[in-house]
Amino acid sequence: MKYAIVYSSKTGNTKLLAQAIGSALPPEDCLYFGPPSPEALTAQRVYVGFWTDKGTCDGETQSFLSSLTNQEVFLFGTAGFGGAPAYFEKILSSVQAHVPASAHVLGGYMCQGKMPQAVRQRYEAMEDSPRRTAMLENFDRALSHPDHEDLDGVKKAVQVL
Ligand SMILES: Cc1cc2nc3c(=O)[nH]c(=O)nc-3n(C[C@H](O)[C@H](O)[C@H](O)COP(=O)(O)O)c2cc1C
Repeated sequence: MKYAIVYSSKTGNTKLLAQAIGSALPPEDCLYFGPPSPEALTAQRVYVGFWTDKGTCDGETQSFLSSLTNQEVFLFGTAGFGGAPAYFEKILSSVQAHVPASAHVLGGYMCQGKMPQAVRQRYEAMEDSPRRTAMLENFDRALSHPDHEDLDGVKKAVQVL
């Protein structure tokens, strides 16, 4: 089956997932690999990657998802906050709302993604509080992600489809 891998990635985290998916699938069936583009729409199955912006997928991904018609869709993404599977589930369901009803969502996968150092500096400038401590801890936990386990996880998720 012909497929396309489309991803939006500002700082490279989601691109790592896209590359991992590509490495797990037959290269001869890949019609398109790259940023959101109408070229990807001819594939029967589209793997769509996003970075999390305000609790949902970034705007470029939102526009791309709304251009889908009857393709099979697998969603994958990264988010700065991690640790709670329920958080990822919530994001994925809000991303899914951008997929037209005529398309068929096969599943999704998310993991944490490191954030720019400027974000840590913003947290550091905040007044000390349990919230600030939690945000700093989360920032530091994110630094190693996506890691090998995350990349293996997304490969496994697409191999069982
Ligand atoms: C403007 C902006 C908004 C963000 N909003 C969120 C958010 O609402 N929730 C979250 O978990 N992460 C948020 N993040 C963190 C990114 O989603 C995260 O670092 C992601 O892995 C970036 O992916 P990329 O490297 O593929 O661009 C935000 C980052 C930026 C720059």
